[in-house]
Amino acid sequence: MAQPRILILGAPGAGKGTQSAKITEEFDVDHITTGDALRANKDMDISDMDTEYDTPREYMDQGELVPDEVVNAIVDEALSQADGFVLDGYPRNLEQAEELKGMTDLDVVLYLDVDEEELVHRLTGRRLDPETGDIYHVEYNPPEDPEVEERLEQRDDDTEETVRERLRVFRENTEPVIEYYDDQGDLERIDGEQAPDEVWEDVKATIEDAA
Ligand code: AP5
Repeated sequence: MAQPRILILGAPGAGKGTQSAKITEEFDVDHITTGDALRANKDMDISDMDTEYDTPREYMDQGELVPDEVVNAIVDEALSQADGFVLDGYPRNLEQAEELKGMTDLDVVLYLDVDEEELVHRLTGRRLDPETGDIYHVEYNPPEDPEVEERLEQRDDDTEETVRERLRVFRENTEPVIEYYDDQGDLERIDGEQAPDEVWEDVKATIEDAA
């Protein structure tokens, strides 16, 4: 197929970032991730948008969704510049799903299915390499190089309290998005509780089948 247009859905910590990195490399597509885009613009002034807070930071640090108007504009701009892509972190509510329908067609919609307590364990143990952006886990996937281990950082919203709130927001807002794609017969459900390489085998095969 031409470069695939892939949507990856899943709760916080389901492994979207981990699998998207592999998809990007294997299928030569852009990784469009609203979380990273917002983290890079946490202090952007959005006060003219009639929002509750003046910057994305306040929403993100509490585990709440950043207003649709801000996020829709980021995704629209990124999609207009991509041929193939893996879209990660969007849509997170039904309004965003409707917006996305007007922006692009999709070739495959993946859903990484993971139990809630496992998600908490994964997120509170996640560490990031600020130099490469690589994702690690203190227990499941620690770095081999002690120099890398030394510089690892924890995301501000990966504390247990904020993680629980992000999961509540997911249940309330994003689970209906999963049902929306499922009802259309578009959802490819993947067992996200397997080891990362096994999840990858399923993800890769599912994308290839959609070709
Ligand atoms: P965002 O950055 O999108 O975070 P998220 O959806 O909460 O997802 P994560 O990045 O935390 O998890 P992931 O699924 O990528 O897991 P990962 O691969 O790292 O959003 C952050 C915030 O931005 C939101 O709260 C909101 O405020 C705002 N925002 C973003 N998009 C928005 C939108 N559309 N609208 C409004 N607001 C928006 O894996 C997690 C850990 O598990 C890692 O340590 C990894 O090593 C480990 N791991 C991965 N796979 C496995 C496996 N198979 N087995 C064992 N461990 C594994």
